[in-house]
Amino acid sequence: MKPFIAITLAATLALAAALPVPADEKEAFESSAWGTHARPGVAPVRNRLYREECGSCHMAYPPGLLPAQSWERIMTSLDDHFGENAELPERDRVRILNYLLDYAAGRADYRVSNRVMWDLKGQQPPLRITELPYFRREHHELSPRMVRKNPKVRSFSNCDLCHAHADKGSFDEHEVYIPGYGRYDD
Ligand code: HEC
Ligand code: HEC
Repeated sequence: MKPFIAITLAATLALAAALPVPADEKEAFESSAWGTHARPGVAPVRNRLYREECGSCHMAYPPGLLPAQSWERIMTSLDDHFGENAELPERDRVRILNYLLDYAAGRADYRVSNRVMWDLKGQQPPLRITELPYFRREHHELSPRMVRKNPKVRSFSNCDLCHAHADKGSFDEHEVYIPGYGRYDD
């Protein structure tokens, strides 16, 4: 390869890697079967046992934010749950796991859930919502000052601090309010 072409190619690749959501990618999703008929957001949490057992340290994350595979891995390693012990009696563990699997991304037809699956493109899903390709794309413009270094937020895992209707399964970007920072305009 001629040096000039090699440099142009390298620059193009570097640029492509730095770009956020390609517009046509979003359009492709919107016009696909995953995007057209689905209900907005994710299925809201309606299971009381789940809300009580998994909503004491952080919000009870709506099951549609992660694929079944991630929930299975989370629910089989509760003794070492992100540095905490979140073990449950076996009966409750199984009931909660079944609930999570019923509404997992890829199983319940909601837009945010479908977008989670779409952006994974068949890759092995991570354990965390905050490590999903879709999550990263949607939040890459937020500075450390708004999140990690913000004493009122600290962690991206605290969805409900910024998304006022997270417990209802709504993550609409027009309903975002960052504590200590204000309404977010991009
Ligand atoms: C003893 C406290 C505790 C309990 C109980 C608990 N968790 Fe967690 N969970 C944590 C901590 C701590 C983290 C990491 C948060 C962070 O990094 O800011 C976490 C993170 C998570 C995450 C990843 C969030 C992200 O960053 O994307 C999921 C999913 C999760 N928990 C699900 C559950 C489920 C399901 C249950 C119930 C079986 C549960 N948790 C119960 C403490 C707990
Ligand atoms: C520090 C505040 C903050 C936290 C914490 C946060 N988000 Fe967000 N989120 C935002 C902002 C701001 C946007 C809009 C970004 C943009 O438009 O560029 C957004 C966008 C989104 C979107 C896309 C919404 C749309 O209408 O396209 C989803 C879905 C979402 N967040 C889910 C989550 C989940 C799930 C969590 C927790 C695991 C979370 N967010 C934690 C601030 C936050």
